Amino acid sequence: MQTASFLADPVRLLEKCHRRYGPIFTVRFFGFPPEVYVATGELAEQVYKTDQGGGRAGQARGDFLEPVVGVHSVLMLDGDPWWQHRKLLNPPLRARQVAGYHDEITEIAVERISTWPLDRPFTLRPRMQEITLEVILRLVFGIRDAERLGRLRVLLPRLMELGSSVTVAMTPPGVRRVMGRVPFLPYGRFLGVRAAVDGILYGEITRRRAAPGGTDVLARLLETELDDQEIRDELITLLLAGHETTATGLAWAFERLLRMPDVLERLPDDDAYLDAVIKEVLRVRPVVYEAPRLLDAPLRLGAYEVPAGWYAGPSIPLVHHDPEVFPSPEEFRPERFLEGGHNRSWMPFGGGRRFCVGAQLALLEMRVIIREVLHRLELSVADQAPEARRLTGVTLAPAKGARVTARARTPVRSP
Ligand code: HEM
Repeated sequence: MQTASFLADPVRLLEKCHRRYGPIFTVRFFGFPPEVYVATGELAEQVYKTDQGGGRAGQARGDFLEPVVGVHSVLMLDGDPWWQHRKLLNPPLRARQVAGYHDEITEIAVERISTWPLDRPFTLRPRMQEITLEVILRLVFGIRDAERLGRLRVLLPRLMELGSSVTVAMTPPGVRRVMGRVPFLPYGRFLGVRAAVDGILYGEITRRRAAPGGTDVLARLLETELDDQEIRDELITLLLAGHETTATGLAWAFERLLRMPDVLERLPDDDAYLDAVIKEVLRVRPVVYEAPRLLDAPLRLGAYEVPAGWYAGPSIPLVHHDPEVFPSPEEFRPERFLEGGHNRSWMPFGGGRRFCVGAQLALLEMRVIIREVLHRLELSVADQAPEARRLTGVTLAPAKGARVTARARTPVRSP
C-alpha cells in the first residue's frame, strides 16, 4: 500500500506521514529495507554525518542505478573507492572551472531556443532536456563530431528513459538478470540501447587517448589513473545525474515564475535577484525528493535508534517546508535568500560528503538559460492553476512538463 501510494504521489504520502508521526517516520517499500525519513535540517545533518562512516549513500542508490551507470560510478561507490573517484571529479566541476563554460552554454541555449514553437502551447521540460543534454555532450564529454552527436542525441534519452523506468529501477536485481535474456522485454531493450551507447563512448575514449587535450571534463579524467571502463561509468553518471535534474529545475522555474508576474518583472538582469529566485525555486520545488544512506551501523535519531540495514534519508521537500527556518514556507519569497548567509536547511543538492558534485554547473546552467529565454521570448501559461508534482524518472517534475506559449519579444529600439 505504501509503495503504491508513494508512486502515485510521493510528496502527499510524505506530508501525511509527517503530520501524523512528526519529523521522524518510517516508510516500507515493497522488496526493500524500511526507510526512515527525517524532516528537519538538524536531523538531516545527523544523517549526512554518517558519510564519515556508517552510512552508505552508494549502496542506497545502487540497486536503482547500477544497470545504467555501472559498478564504477561515483554514485554507486562507498568508502575509499568512492573517494578515489570523487576527488578526481571535484576539480573539473568546481565553480571556477565551470565558469569557463559560460559562453558555450549561452551559445547552446540561444541555438536551441531559436527552434521553439511560437504562438502555440508546448511543453517546456523536454526542450530544457535538449539543452542540458547538449551541455553534457559538448562540455563534459567534449564531443563535437556531428554524426556522433546526432546518434547520442537519440540514444541517450532512450537509455535514460528505459533505465530509470520503474520497470528497470524498481525490479530486484535477481529478477532483472532473468529478464535481461528476453530481448523484447523492457530490460532486454534497455541492454540493446546500452550496448550501442557504450560502443560510441569507448570509441570516443580511444580517440581522445590518442589525441590528448581539450577543456572538457573527459580531458581531465583522461589525465587520471582511471581505466576506460571507469571513465565510461563516470561519463554516464554525469549524464544521468546532471541532465534530467537540471532540466526539471528549469521547468519548475518557469512553471512558478509565469504564475508570479511581480517576480518575473524584476528578472532577468538583476543578478543577485536571479540567484535568489533560483534558490527559492529549488526550495519550493526540489527536484530530488530524498538523499538516502543505507546504514551499516545503528543510527541514533532523536528518541529512536534506527537499526543497521535500514535506510535513513532527509525528505528534502519536508525540510524545505520547515516553518521554523523558512517562515510561511508555502509562499514564494526570493527575498529570503537575498539577505545572504548559508542556510543549512536548504538542501536541493543533498549534503555531507556526498553533496552533489554538479551543483555549480547546474546553477550556472539555470542562470544562463533563464536569462536567455527571458531576453528572447515572452512566455505565458493558459492555466493559472499550479501544475502538480509527479515522479518522473528520478525526479519530481511538473505533471504537465510545464506547458507554456511563447511569443517573440519585440526588439527594444534605442532612441
Ligand atoms: C538542479 C540540478 C541538480 C539537482 C537538484 C541535483 C541533486 C543531487 C542530489 C540531491 C544528490 C545526492 C546528494 C546526497 O546524497 O547528499 C546529487 C548527487 C550527485 N549529483 Fe547532482 N543534482 C543536479 C545536477 C547535477 C549535475 C549537473 C551533475 C553533473 C554534471 C550532477 C552530478 C551528481 C553526482 C555525480 C552525484 C553523486 C555524488 C556522490 O555520490 O559523491 N548533478 N545531486
